[in-house]
Amino acid sequence: MSEKVITCTLNGVILTAISGQSIAAAMISSGERINRTTRIDGSFRGIFCGIGACFDCLVVVDGVSNQRACITEVRNGMTIQTQRGAGP
Ligand code: FES
Repeated sequence: MSEKVITCTLNGVILTAISGQSIAAAMISSGERINRTTRIDGSFRGIFCGIGACFDCLVVVDGVSNQRACITEVRNGMTIQTQRGAGP
């Protein structure tokens, strides 16, 4: 089985990933551990549960905020941004 390498951007920087990976997996592979900051005090949040339950991994995908990185599949050409507070 061959892996298909795809390309997207993370905060404006080219990110390569494997087709079928979650956004979270692609971010971790690139060394990025921070997905968002909280609304109240700007604390950093990253992957916690990894199964879509805690919402700590929210990112902005193609301009749409509040997307769970751990359960969203990365796609070729996708634009991913770490999320500040409630959204972009
Ligand atoms: S890490 Fe908990 S919802 Fe994504």
